[in-house]
Amino acid sequence: MGLFARARRALRPEAALLKSHGMIEGEWIPTEKPLFTVRICINKRLNTDRLPSCAGRGSRGLADLLEQRILAERIPASITRGPCMNNCAIGPNLKIQAAEFISLKDDLSQANIEMIVEAIRREAERRKAGQVADTPEPLLP
Ligand code: FES
Repeated sequence: MGLFARARRALRPEAALLKSHGMIEGEWIPTEKPLFTVRICINKRLNTDRLPSCAGRGSRGLADLLEQRILAERIPASITRGPCMNNCAIGPNLKIQAAEFISLKDDLSQANIEMIVEAIRREAERRKAGQVADTPEPLLP
């Protein structure tokens, strides 16, 4: 498969998302410049050591989903897929830049996804207001 075909294939989910929100491809208006990033561990183990990994618990799909939500809601944030954060047993794990560290403890329920999106929205509002991030409080007990 050629480079352009692969690039076109990679962009397909975005095109479908635009269409689902009533936008026409080519008339897309980029979101404002991201104010911060959300780093998600997408480490996947071969599991020769029998340890859990975030990707083994769905973090790659979660990263895609959060990216789509951020795009659809035009939140000025970006998703960064990253390596292990050394909290594998309580993953999938993600870190909002200079704010909350969120461990999902193998629970990718809709409620937890909404909680993450809300935390991202809250951080965007805080940064738009020019407030310095407070000491983050854990979102999950
Ligand atoms: S595999 Fe995600 S924190 Fe280690």
